[in-house]
Amino acid sequence: MWMQTETIVWKGRCGPFELRVGPDTFRPSTISMLLADAMEIEDRSTVIDAGCGSGILSIVAAKLGAGTVLGVDAARGTVEIATANAAAQGVGDRIRFFEGDMFDALPESAMADVVIGDVSGIPDELARVSGWFPSGLAGGPTGAELPMRMLEAARRLLHRGGKLLLPTGSLQDETSIMDKARAIFGPIRMLTEKLIPLPSALAEQPAVIRLIKDRVIRLSERGSRRLWTAHVWEMRA
Ligand SMILES: C[S@@+](CC[C@H](N)C(=O)[O-])C[C@H]1O[C@@H](n2cnc3c(N)ncnc32)[C@H](O)[C@@H]1O
Repeated sequence: MWMQTETIVWKGRCGPFELRVGPDTFRPSTISMLLADAMEIEDRSTVIDAGCGSGILSIVAAKLGAGTVLGVDAARGTVEIATANAAAQGVGDRIRFFEGDMFDALPESAMADVVIGDVSGIPDELARVSGWFPSGLAGGPTGAELPMRMLEAARRLLHRGGKLLLPTGSLQDETSIMDKARAIFGPIRMLTEKLIPLPSALAEQPAVIRLIKDRVIRLSERGSRRLWTAHVWEMRA
């Protein structure tokens, strides 16, 4: 399949290096960087990267020593783009990419020591007004629906003692996600917490004001700046 791509530069862990992205590919964000920094990957371990986008976290996992990485994303063009990015970084022999909903496209026998659970997690309305998700694949009405579905499915893919890395934030119904995560996995460890400014043009959008009023998203204020909180969590099977 031919598609127009552009080049961006990954400046996070193991970087800097160039990545190709297509019209539907998620551009790695601050959360991608937080997740990459939080990743502890044992030599030759198996990693599943759910919501792999450009393949960036799969590539970082392979560079950190993973023996096998399976990346999956529902966005159009994922396999071509992420495969080319992994090959350009010299780790293509250890990563395979798949395109499909959640984990459906993975081989039936797929199991992992680490699942990176980075499927979209902001409310559909926020995705629409921010343009952060070029594929249009956002997290559901509250941004919690898709991550909660991912949590259910990920548990079955983890080896005993394996871990799931989960990013969440106050731009989604974080409480429902954490309740679900605790119900499935028990104790949860916070690896990262970071306050991130929300551009004021976005904070003033009627859709965002509505989501705040409905208590789906929560912002804090520092002077004239509006901030949201991002977290990375670790839970064990
Ligand atoms: C926040 S982005 C993360 C991308 C990548 N991990 C990164 O750090 O750049 C979430 C990704 O989840 C994907 N996604 C959304 N819905 C999905 C679904 N139902 N199944 C698989 N992937 C999905 C989106 O296409 C997007 O690439």
